[in-house]
Amino acid sequence: MPLISRSPDTGVWLLATPHSSYALRIDDSGAPRHIAWGPRLTAAEADALVVPDGEPHSSFEGRPGVGEELPVDDGTRYGPPSLQVRHADGARGFAWQPTGHRVLTEVPGRAELVLEFRDRLHPLHVALHYRVREDTDVIERWTVLHNAGPGPLELPRCDSAAWTLPLLAGYRLSHVTGQWSAESQLRRDLLPFGETVLTSRRGVTSHHANPWVMLDDGTAGEEHGRVWSTALAWSGSWRLTVQRSPDGRAGWTGGVGHDGTCVPLAAGERFTTPVLAGLFSDGGFGTASRVWHAYIRDHVLPHAAEPAPVLYNSWEATGFDVDESGQKALAERAARLGVELYVVDDGWFGARRSDRAGLGDWTPAPDRFPDGLGPLSRAVHRLGMRFGVWVEPEMVSPDSDLYREHPDWVLHVPGRDRTEMRHQLVLNFARPDVADWAHDWLTRLVADHGIDFLKWDMNRAFGEAGWPGQDHGDDLLWTRYVTNLYDVLDRLRADHPRLRIETCAGGGGRVDLGVLARTDQAWVSDNTDAVDRLMIQHGFGQIYPARVMSAWVTDVPNQLTGQSVPLRFRFHVAMAGLLGVGGDLTRWSPEELAEGADLVAAYKKVRHLVQQGRQYRLGEPLGDRTQAVQYLSEDADELLLLAYRRSPRHGTPQPPVRLRDLPTGARYRDTGTGTVHHATVLTEYGLHLGLPTGDWASTALHLVRVPDGA
Ligand code: DGJ
Repeated sequence: MPLISRSPDTGVWLLATPHSSYALRIDDSGAPRHIAWGPRLTAAEADALVVPDGEPHSSFEGRPGVGEELPVDDGTRYGPPSLQVRHADGARGFAWQPTGHRVLTEVPGRAELVLEFRDRLHPLHVALHYRVREDTDVIERWTVLHNAGPGPLELPRCDSAAWTLPLLAGYRLSHVTGQWSAESQLRRDLLPFGETVLTSRRGVTSHHANPWVMLDDGTAGEEHGRVWSTALAWSGSWRLTVQRSPDGRAGWTGGVGHDGTCVPLAAGERFTTPVLAGLFSDGGFGTASRVWHAYIRDHVLPHAAEPAPVLYNSWEATGFDVDESGQKALAERAARLGVELYVVDDGWFGARRSDRAGLGDWTPAPDRFPDGLGPLSRAVHRLGMRFGVWVEPEMVSPDSDLYREHPDWVLHVPGRDRTEMRHQLVLNFARPDVADWAHDWLTRLVADHGIDFLKWDMNRAFGEAGWPGQDHGDDLLWTRYVTNLYDVLDRLRADHPRLRIETCAGGGGRVDLGVLARTDQAWVSDNTDAVDRLMIQHGFGQIYPARVMSAWVTDVPNQLTGQSVPLRFRFHVAMAGLLGVGGDLTRWSPEELAEGADLVAAYKKVRHLVQQGRQYRLGEPLGDRTQAVQYLSEDADELLLLAYRRSPRHGTPQPPVRLRDLPTGARYRDTGTGTVHHATVLTEYGLHLGLPTGDWASTALHLVRVPDGA
């Protein structure tokens, strides 16, 4: 079956992914109407699902609130609009007039459908884009708006897409909430009737909500049941409105901007929304996550196939107290531990001795790095590691030369306060001169100091978000800031193809499909307590793959929580993602350094499974039962099992852990003990882990398939 086809009888467009189908058509009014999204359909089966447009059953109903591909604010529609327009003459609304369609198939293995429309009265053109691929169930959707008229117009809402679910007996919503140092807390609640709005008004993706959801009928589990899911590729303010309409239908619409902001569109201008991707899975939340993981690795990240190095970061060890000799001492110990990438965090530049000064003055501090960063960079390279530095290009300290020179470069509203948070203000990246300035110093910094890696941080939300002197500046900045940020990242990567970048915003404040398309990994949380981290990683991994999940082993008692857990447990938690070390190695005992080196070496033997394998969550990180995560190679020849147990009450049964998806009849050898296990026993009866009694027990088991007949 082709990836995209159109029925000659009904005009139904049918999109095919490996395990799902998506069908739509243009209805009698000219509007794009949803038909189906779920298990695979033939063209005839999709045709059979077309229901003729009926009359609303009362004069109060209007067109269905759920069920259009991009509901507009017009006519008799009363659901949350995906598209709201204020035309140049002050008129509002959009009446669909189809003007054509295209199917693009130039790239092997993928196809794109473009449905083109214009407003019946005004010169606004709207194109709906759908992209499907042979190797993923993720469907990418976005919208292009083109103002073909002579005057400016405004888009108070211009969502990327609206998605519709089949009529189910009930609906349950999965998503994450959180705050600084407590990101990615998974919530799974019944979807109430009405509109549930998930949003960021902070100008950045946010710690508080992340732009993705999963919906099921309330009965799906980790490995069974139907799940529909979406994720937005955008790193600024955003809004996802999930609707359960009074007639029992459910769906969502989502895109850039929050309530009260609008996208201005000057005469002749186009706005391309970010992708709002969606997937259907009939294999529960676990399968939905694995489809997202593979999609992000294969189609979002720039270099996912490359093994991510073991990293050291100086932040928790030194804070702002950074200098050349101290960093060299840490780097020597890090190299002995087996670290492959050494990163100097905050404090290396300008007058940055605390968070009160220095942001914006991006030259190495002469008192701490008298000869610049060159000597440290060379020392790190000589030790066989790559060299990285922390930067926060979007911010400025009021106590900085940059701010004294360019006080107008920050987001501000004339006459109002400029509210500082963490003693800093937000540079207006929407301004082309600010974006160019950032690109210039960044590209020079990287070139001049042999920098292989940037940790790109962003430590506060927007405030007094104004852009004086720019036409519609206060509206424009919300999107232009993000597209300029993307542009700077893209230019930097093009200048330095070997440069790798970590996205960070005070921990996990900016992780989304948009930023991941131009970075390589993400700092997930400033909370490095291994126990809290289990919960954060559980929520993060619902959508995002372990390939991007940076995790450090830090010292105990943990700086944030005061909690102490064994070094081995801390390593096993960090090994579930991209292993990093962030402790003060000058204070580690010889025994700790030796144990750390063994665990780093062990990680290197299995990192291909963590970073590229299929991930199975075996239990939740709650209570005193053992929780485990399994990473299985694509060919099922190898797996890693990481298992954790907190402080069990005496007598709590510890059932064996049942592994997933191993071929019947296969046998696996534990590379640590040599024990051979039968796949059927592992999957159907489970593995007794024999974790020691006491608090915070953990293990990492590497099982390799025994050749048949051996
Ligand atoms: C916030 C980050 O999340 C931390 O890891 C660290 O880089 C600090 N900023 C430095 O200011």
